[in-house]
Amino acid sequence: MDQQQRKILVTSALPYANGSIHVGHMVEHIQSDIWIRALRLRGHECHFVCADDAHGTPIMVNARKRGITPEQLITESRAEHEADLDDFGVHYDFYHTTHSPENQELVEDIFAGMQQRGLVEVREIEQYYDEEAGMFLPDRFIKGQCPRCKTPDQYGDACENCMATYSPTDLIEPYSTVSGSKPVLRTSDHYFVKLSARQEFLEEWVARGHLQDEVVNKLNEWFEGGLQDWDISRDSPYFGFNIPGEENKFFYVWVDAPIGYMASFRCLCREKGIDFDQFWRPGNDTELYHFIGKDIVYFHTLFWPTMLEAAGYRLPTSVFVHGFLTVDGKKMSKSRGTFIMARTYLDHLAPDYLRYYFASKLGSGLSDIDLNLEDFVARVNSDLVGKVVNIASRCAGFIKKHFDGRLAPTLPADDPLTAEFAGAADSIAQQLEAREYNRAVRQIMALADQANRYIDEHKPWQMIKQPELRDQVHQVCSLGINLFRCLMVYLKPIIPFTAARAEEFLNAGELRWSDVQAPLLDHAINPYQPLMVRIDDKQVSAIIEASRDTLAEAGGEADSQADAVAANPIADEITIDDFARVDLRVGRIIEADFVEGADKLLRLRVDIGIDQRQVFAGIKAAYDPSTLINRKVVLVANLAPRKMRFGESQGMVLAAGPGGKDIFLLDLDDGAEPGMRVT
Ligand code: MSP
Ligand code: ZN
Repeated sequence: MDQQQRKILVTSALPYANGSIHVGHMVEHIQSDIWIRALRLRGHECHFVCADDAHGTPIMVNARKRGITPEQLITESRAEHEADLDDFGVHYDFYHTTHSPENQELVEDIFAGMQQRGLVEVREIEQYYDEEAGMFLPDRFIKGQCPRCKTPDQYGDACENCMATYSPTDLIEPYSTVSGSKPVLRTSDHYFVKLSARQEFLEEWVARGHLQDEVVNKLNEWFEGGLQDWDISRDSPYFGFNIPGEENKFFYVWVDAPIGYMASFRCLCREKGIDFDQFWRPGNDTELYHFIGKDIVYFHTLFWPTMLEAAGYRLPTSVFVHGFLTVDGKKMSKSRGTFIMARTYLDHLAPDYLRYYFASKLGSGLSDIDLNLEDFVARVNSDLVGKVVNIASRCAGFIKKHFDGRLAPTLPADDPLTAEFAGAADSIAQQLEAREYNRAVRQIMALADQANRYIDEHKPWQMIKQPELRDQVHQVCSLGINLFRCLMVYLKPIIPFTAARAEEFLNAGELRWSDVQAPLLDHAINPYQPLMVRIDDKQVSAIIEASRDTLAEAGGEADSQADAVAANPIADEITIDDFARVDLRVGRIIEADFVEGADKLLRLRVDIGIDQRQVFAGIKAAYDPSTLINRKVVLVANLAPRKMRFGESQGMVLAAGPGGKDIFLLDLDDGAEPGMRVT
């Protein structure tokens, strides 16, 4: 705690002004917000900035479609984004836009730096041009038949069907998604940054050990392949900054986007009198961190350091990369109603629930995190409502009713918990700083369990019936309130709204990290108001329903194809190796019975040579059990056993069909012997 105060600047990736903020984005904003809150709570000087990423072709095209100017579009979405983030408790010290004079000035400065260092080169390239719309087409605005598998309507850079990657000129019968016309090839001069010339510098920076291992591995792969020079210009019409000295050429959006971090901070510096250079020039003892998703690593760990270094700026202390959000184990999908906008969530549920759930799942690595909706409800209700808040509500009643709302002057003499709770402070702080939020949460919940157990064991509701135990009840409940207070200190970065209500209840000002060392004694608390209520499943269903509606209203362009098969979307892709992990064996049915109380199942006993398995199979409507004896079937032998109401199912018998009577067991020929592996 009494370590030196650090000076830290933190950014989150800039959301595109092109669309609304969704729960996927919120993983990042919540992750960085928890981090900054935790460091602030421990007394460090922290600055936290973000902005809207306002430039690029999609924004220009969308504005055109809506009949408004790009400026109007980005003004609208900036206001929307700021409100969404604010309502989630994510308060940036400055939230700017990349379409700003501050940013333009810095972009020109950094570009000049790269030019002076001889890193910029002009080359002629050939690119598709839409004559009807009068514009060059980025890869994503050209579609055509995949050159490999011939699937129609694939993007210019990759096929969604066979996963081939290629260049737009390889597409068969290409068309522009802007006008529908057939694009023509045109040449044009483009500016390139010679990234290849900076490979050694970048390799050395990466080797210095401030990036996550997984990121370093990825970077080393890219290094091995050799870095490609980077095309940083786009031809008119484009919504962006003009390249100095050029009328019809613009900086590619990914040049000015990260510089937007600096521009936003510059505004904050002007507002608050902070020294900009102290955070952006080398040789200062300040720290700079960027939180980003795994899809934009290349930009932040290769392009960005190159730009900074060329213009004499410092390099990031680290770049913290997180994985992607899935909902119920799958990519968010509009047709499933799981493409949940931040606002849609907020219309139905309080922000702390999601903040807590994300925290309980987030570690420091790049793995994706899953918002499992059932688990979300269960976890929040059981941890936050059932454990943490419960401690306060159990104890507050006694304090108010019997002790005039005042905590006892002393804690129980044999109090085993105060020291332990206070002693956890450093370890929890370290977990939070290491972005191991899931571990911190686990540790905090283990403490909450102990507090509840303590109260259960002492049973104040019984003790209070014996007048001579009155002081003891007072002490036990005061201890309970103080343990609750410690938990709230630890949880404050994660659930700030609830913490604020707890502060009101505890009536002792803002909770600080050091508070866990000094219990509140002989102190008046405020009457208890429910700090948090349980989530009702219905609220979650309402979010899903509303997320489906949003699509219907918006026309659902983004996954209209998926809509067509909404009832039965193709599951996430698996590789042949994934599939090979399924151990399929020949089995012989030796027993087959009806199951009492089950209307679809038969109980089978299957001999697979090595052993025998009990399997419950949903084939009752299709097969008479007596006809199944001695029949050979294919059994998934390494499926985890599952406890069912009727007993344990130890594998799965393969059968397929539309359902009901039409389910067919796979047939095997006579040569198949139980235990043989099926391929
Ligand atoms: N505008 C760029 C970033 C420029 S930073 C100089 C961009 N914008 S974005 O809106 O597409 O994404 C913003 C951030 O949200 C990125 O870090 C991205 O990885 C993250 N996420 C977007 N969808 C996400 C999920 N489904 N899950 C987790 N993070 C996600 O990229
Ligand atoms: Zn293909």
